Amino acid sequence: MTDSRTVGIVGAGWVGLVTGGCFAELGHDVIVRDIVGERIDALRVGRLPFHEPDLSDVLARNSERIRYTLDAAELAEADILFVCVQTPPTYSGDADLSYVWNALDELPSNQRRQILVMKSTVPVGTGEKVRATLDARGLANVGYVSNPEFLAEGTAVRDFMNPDRIVIGAFAGEDSARVEALYSGIEAPIVRTDVASAEMIKLAANAFLTTRISFINEIANVCELVGADVEDVARGVGLDHRLGPHFFRAGVGWGGSCFGKDVSALKQLAGNSGYHFQLLAAVIEVNELQKRKVIAKLEKHLGKLRGKTIAVLGLAFKPNTDDLRDAPSLVIASRLLAEGSSVRTWDPVANARDRLKGALQCETVLDAVTGAHAAVIVTEWEELRDLPSREVREAMARPLIVDGRNLLDPEETRAAGFAYEGIGRPTSPFAALPETPEPETRVQR
Ligand code: UGA
Repeated sequence: MTDSRTVGIVGAGWVGLVTGGCFAELGHDVIVRDIVGERIDALRVGRLPFHEPDLSDVLARNSERIRYTLDAAELAEADILFVCVQTPPTYSGDADLSYVWNALDELPSNQRRQILVMKSTVPVGTGEKVRATLDARGLANVGYVSNPEFLAEGTAVRDFMNPDRIVIGAFAGEDSARVEALYSGIEAPIVRTDVASAEMIKLAANAFLTTRISFINEIANVCELVGADVEDVARGVGLDHRLGPHFFRAGVGWGGSCFGKDVSALKQLAGNSGYHFQLLAAVIEVNELQKRKVIAKLEKHLGKLRGKTIAVLGLAFKPNTDDLRDAPSLVIASRLLAEGSSVRTWDPVANARDRLKGALQCETVLDAVTGAHAAVIVTEWEELRDLPSREVREAMARPLIVDGRNLLDPEETRAAGFAYEGIGRPTSPFAALPETPEPETRVQR
């Protein structure tokens, strides 16, 4: 590392800690600032507020270069300040920028030139507004750069250290070069652009990823009607190098804290500018309906779901995270509870006890499936690959698996004595269900 800098991080959330830890790994000194005292106290003793593989190790390994503070004045030491605060959706579907503006209000006064870098996902045009605000406050010496993050939960450290590209949008070439220099040591194409284009790249990337998923989910739905298998179709289509295999897995739909928020923000941004982004409206609607498809599949086999016990396996919006934000599991479990089913859930790390009050969260998969008329795979945790076992079959009231992530092999699952329903795969005939007498079940409230 030849050109080590002091990097300030505003916001010790998931993006901020990954960014701070990885810049420290690259040899920079890092000051992480947050407004929540307990969070700073926990970080000082090496405790992470969420589950993210490899992040604890990175922070521990570089602890001598990382300082955590509640005091915004300490950020005056930083050469470059990364804004990593949340931008949740408002009631209108626009992004709420109040945390961004708070961060600006707390900018330390400084004689030397600092650069403010926006990592948070913001609407296109935010950079222009921030620039104007800085100028109006006499802070023309503060530079502004947009440097969006493309980190996925569960692989964030790897994504930071081995990115597909680094996008840097700046008003001044000199600022762009200084931010670029921070990443020296990382091999990746640099996309240098104006601020508005950098902001749009982030929104367009997430919008396109969700478009791919909703597209393959619609193909899956048609596959079911015409007797094709979406797994083979996705492979056959994805091998075309112009199309590629990624984000092409059919299932119960996308969730997480970013996709829903960012797609909605882009749709609203277009709408606010007088453009109706029809494609995104469909992408969002397909996803809403996709989460509910599981219910129809259960009804096909079980008839009315009132009084039936359903195991919901996997709660996190994807594996290797404990994040429940916008998780399809919450919609599916809530729909089942509304139908009057008794819902038993399982997840190895996520805890939905507060959000799904009527459901019983079990410690083990076996406990969750005991007495169940069906087991629904909602998150493709590795632990669920062994689901079609004799033990599980004997514990269930009816051996029916609805595989919302196409995790299992249909033939093997059927050979193990289960009726199997995937997404976009040839379906189980009704006759596959053994005639087991149904035990008495009571709806848990
Ligand atoms: C996503 C993007 O992948 C990151 O590039 C981006 O930086 C991040 O949002 C963000 O804006 O901060 P993340 O939300 O962590 O990352 O998770 P993904 O791995 O993208 O998965 C999102 C959802 O899509 C999950 O529910 C997953 O199960 C679903 N998915 C993904 C599918 O249903 N099919 C697929 O083929 C891929």
